[in-house]
Amino acid sequence: MATYKLLLLPGDGIGPEVMSEVEKVLARLSAMGVAKFEIERGLVGGSAYDAHGQSISESDMKLALAADAVLFGAVGGPKWDGVPYDVRPEAGLLRLRKDLQLFANLRPAICYPALAEASSLKREIVEGLDIMIVRELTGGVYFGEPKQIIDLGNGQKRGIDTQVYDTYEIERIGRVAFELARKRRNKVTSSEKRNVMKSGVLWNEVITALHKRDYADVELEHQLADSLAMQLVRWPKQFDVIVTDNLFGDMLSDIAAMLTGSLGMLPSASLGEVDKVTDKRRALYEPVHGSAPDIAGKGMANPIAMIGSLAMCLRYSFGLGETADRIETAIADVLAAGLRTADIKGDAKDVISTAAMGDAILARLG
Ligand code: IPM
Ligand code: MN
Repeated sequence: MATYKLLLLPGDGIGPEVMSEVEKVLARLSAMGVAKFEIERGLVGGSAYDAHGQSISESDMKLALAADAVLFGAVGGPKWDGVPYDVRPEAGLLRLRKDLQLFANLRPAICYPALAEASSLKREIVEGLDIMIVRELTGGVYFGEPKQIIDLGNGQKRGIDTQVYDTYEIERIGRVAFELARKRRNKVTSSEKRNVMKSGVLWNEVITALHKRDYADVELEHQLADSLAMQLVRWPKQFDVIVTDNLFGDMLSDIAAMLTGSLGMLPSASLGEVDKVTDKRRALYEPVHGSAPDIAGKGMANPIAMIGSLAMCLRYSFGLGETADRIETAIADVLAAGLRTADIKGDAKDVISTAAMGDAILARLG
């Protein structure tokens, strides 16, 4: 039986609660003989700041670099609103993405038929939705320099962020999108703002050239990011794979998440380049939702996005696609059986707790 090294970083807010459910699933998978997991645990975000004044410690960074995959919960909360910018909870996540070079963020948005009512959009618009947002994750305005606030000396300050993309960054994320599309419905929509941004002009050129050179069999279209946001709520089923930059991807994936009924439903994978020698890639898996401090500790959080993130880990990092399918089927079954956490309540009479939802999924795993 293969052994995989996993680092669990539950983080803040509801992170630890949803991660507990993942730990149950991991224990079950080991007991079923699917694989062995060597599990390490670390701190990230506000909890890391409280323990050692940093949003992630050097020793936990080392564990992350050595792991076959990292499972990440969520970070942040009002408790840390006043901490210095460099050590704010989000900085831990951004450092993990940057230092592990996780440039490709896969954010699937699937609307389970049983949940179509929980979406704020009409059933016919979202039912059966299955799109994949491929967000560039280590470049653009998130990391571009200069990034600072300067004092202009006349009572004014200037805040600067830099949106910057090099050809290779656009090309490698484009490849990820085209490769994924080939295994899906063979369509890629690339999105930028070339009408106002030079980085958007380059993005468009590079994706177009890559398509012509290596992926002419895939259907490619370009949509401006604002228009794409509108189309996402107008008729989302027109999309298959959407590829876009770091900031647009951040916003568009929140919209896509809501189409599925709840942010609590969406898993994500952040992947690095495949190492030519070992054939492995660094990877981190996290729910798209945040730390939800308002419901933290109450057992109300929906663990589906976190458990779904584990399924993505099994599929993309460990080659255990069949087990991933089983977990996803168990999730669909639980929803079809009418079990609901508070966030996806809809018209349901009763809601169940985080742990009860985890148990219900486990019970369907066999
Ligand atoms: C996300 C989050 C992060 C981001 C924050 C927590 C830094 O919103 O993963 O979408 O902006 O990338
Ligand atoms: Mn976000």
